[in-house]
Amino acid sequence: MSESGMSDKAVLSCRNLGKSYEEGPESVVVLSGLQLELHPGQRVAIVGSSGSGKSTLLNLLGGLDTPTEGSVWLAGEELSALNEKARGLLRNRALGFVYQFHHLLPEFTALENVCMPLLIGKTPIPEARQRATALLERVGLKHRLAHKPSELSGGERQRVAIARALVNQPGLVMLDEPTGNLDSHTAQGIQDLMLELSTSSRTAFLVVTHDMALARQMDRVWRLEEGRLVEA
Ligand SMILES: Nc1ncnc2c1ncn2[C@@H]1O[C@H](COP(=O)(O)OP(=O)(O)O)[C@@H](O)[C@H]1O
Ligand SMILES: [Mg+2]
Repeated sequence: MSESGMSDKAVLSCRNLGKSYEEGPESVVVLSGLQLELHPGQRVAIVGSSGSGKSTLLNLLGGLDTPTEGSVWLAGEELSALNEKARGLLRNRALGFVYQFHHLLPEFTALENVCMPLLIGKTPIPEARQRATALLERVGLKHRLAHKPSELSGGERQRVAIARALVNQPGLVMLDEPTGNLDSHTAQGIQDLMLELSTSSRTAFLVVTHDMALARQMDRVWRLEEGRLVEA
């Protein structure tokens, strides 16, 4: 058992997680007393109404935002115990993140965007290009390698962001509404890729979605309700 009292094998866990915002004299509580634990290869969907705090939760779990209460462990490391540099290195090594809005680097091509996490991790350029190309092919973008984000459709950008999140083979991938911009055929391809990686590489997936067809294909569905997760 780790210091958290939770299993050492969890790729992600949090205890008593809370987030509130001060709005003048009032405090708006978005998340409160939230617990979760995610294991290698596990695929979980988080559903919940608009404004229930799904994006806030993913941002806290990914170390992009700071909780007002509680702690998060990513790959066994407590995020709040790390300085910004160490947290950045841990995120690059252990986590792939797909934002609700794609966050690709606008001056770089699709291929360069997907290479970026590998280059940060000091992978040699030829190997990085080869791995990034293979993943872009997997998400159906073989013919778009040299395009910049502004030259891609919304769904194509989303697929580049997914390839970028997977390229480092992280133990955990978090996705915020990954199929929102995709037609059903492409969305199914992304789902198949998630299933394959969760089995072959034990990659864990935590997916925020409105898409019940996607949610139902995960191992578990959790609903965010009144600041906490309940089994759906
Ligand atoms: N920076 C902020 N300041 C104040 N309130 C915020 C801020 N960011 C988010 N919120 C509030 O937190 C709640 C949850 O937002 P969000 O996590 O984006 O929900 P969801 O992703 O489930 O639609 C909303 O009520 C939103 O208004
Ligand atoms: Mg959201």
